[in-house]
Amino acid sequence: MAENLLIAPSAGKAERYEVLLPQIESLITGEKEPIANLANVAAALRQTFNFFWVGFYLVKEDELVLGPFQGPIACTRIQWGKGVCGTAWKEARTIIVPDVEKFPGHIACSSDSKSEIVVPVFSSGVVSFVLDADSDKVNDFDDTDAHYLNQLARILERFF
Ligand code: SME
Repeated sequence: MAENLLIAPSAGKAERYEVLLPQIESLITGEKEPIANLANVAAALRQTFNFFWVGFYLVKEDELVLGPFQGPIACTRIQWGKGVCGTAWKEARTIIVPDVEKFPGHIACSSDSKSEIVVPVFSSGVVSFVLDADSDKVNDFDDTDAHYLNQLARILERFF
């Protein structure tokens, strides 16, 4: 198992994702415990992009429950269709929120969070958990994040 991530400090966003995703795949290959793998994925994303908050909400019956994450403490449970995470779950699609104050129903776990991206991860065609990343800057997520975080979601789907 890799002990250090190898990411060039000068690399741009796309290059960071390109270099990171194979390292994440290698990191979680051979480990069957999902919580351990999600914990390392959250840490790898935080370490690479210095996200304000990054982690997972897991579908448990009729709500999302907080899973492994990196960052400040967060809301524990989110209802289907509520907030950005619950909406991404309900609509089974990636949502980029450039300014959280303009997203109706946004759930503010921290007032320091300004923009957000949520990517659903599927199991047998239904959402089984979501990846949520928050930034303390407005408009910090774009199609590059959506593209690569969806690639990451496809990798994770092979392990869960
Ligand atoms: N803002 C999210 C809640 C989770 S926190 O950002 C960690 C939402 O509206 O679903």
